[in-house]
Amino acid sequence: MGRLNGKSALVTGGGNGIGKASALRFASEGAAVIVADFRQDAAEIVVAEIEAAGGRAMAVQVDVSDEAVVDSMVRAGVEAFGKIDVLLNSAGGGSTKDGPVTELEIDEFWRTIRVDLFGTLLCCRRVIPEMVESGGGSIVNISSLRAVIGTHGADAYTASKGGVLAMSRAMAMQWAKHDIRVNVMAPGVVLTERVAAFIKEDNPIYQKSLLGPSDPQDVANLALYLASDEARKVTGTVMRLDGGASIY
Ligand SMILES: NC(=O)c1ccc[n+]([C@@H]2O[C@H](COP(=O)([O-])OP(=O)(O)OC[C@H]3O[C@@H](n4cnc5c(N)ncnc54)[C@H](O)[C@@H]3O)[C@@H](O)[C@H]2O)c1
Repeated sequence: MGRLNGKSALVTGGGNGIGKASALRFASEGAAVIVADFRQDAAEIVVAEIEAAGGRAMAVQVDVSDEAVVDSMVRAGVEAFGKIDVLLNSAGGGSTKDGPVTELEIDEFWRTIRVDLFGTLLCCRRVIPEMVESGGGSIVNISSLRAVIGTHGADAYTASKGGVLAMSRAMAMQWAKHDIRVNVMAPGVVLTERVAAFIKEDNPIYQKSLLGPSDPQDVANLALYLASDEARKVTGTVMRLDGGASIY
């Protein structure tokens, strides 16, 4: 028995990094997966991998900050698999254009807010009514350790991830009566291809990580737990996956 047998999962940002690892993990546990990404080619590669292993998946091209496109993505997913039981919002990420408030590029502030925060809002806003109709579901949002402990140097990203965290808590309150759980993962440093390319060892979270940085698979394992019925009484939580950095 797979831990997600009979469920369908929508994974945004599913073409790379944490989203990709989670899409593959969800599929290996029996879920039908909608792999949604800005990069159609990346999403298709993940779908091919899932199908080659005997799983069910479909690729959808999406910009999570565009309401009309998010609507089409959800329609396509529901049409293909009947319902959406799990939503993992993994599209997004910071960039080197970020910095202290006095130095960061203002465009980068709005880009981060638009993709990470507003994109998460739009996907939740569109999927929640589907979950209400089908009798419940699990939403897993991704914040960052930066929104939980004091760090500096990526203030636009920190602000947007703080928004994700607070908004998720509010949604958990609002939708529990419909059996919709909303939880947040707050990773420290995760060595996805994107992050591995620019992370420096003097990064404050990297340095404090007692167990070292995580792999995307580590985050996928936590996402799987939160997505599954094993976490049926878990909602409104913020789970740190930081190798102990926050207790340093
Ligand atoms: N890697 C880390 O160290 C780390 C730590 C904490 C939080 N996070 C968060 O985890 C999430 C995933 O990060 P990652 O490192 O796996 O990134 P990644 O770059 O490896 O993957 C992100 C995916 O999102 C897609 N994407 C970007 N903008 C999009 C948009 N507007 N619409 C649809 N898809 C879009 C990209 O094409 C890419 O495939 C992000 O929200 C990031 O902030 C990452």
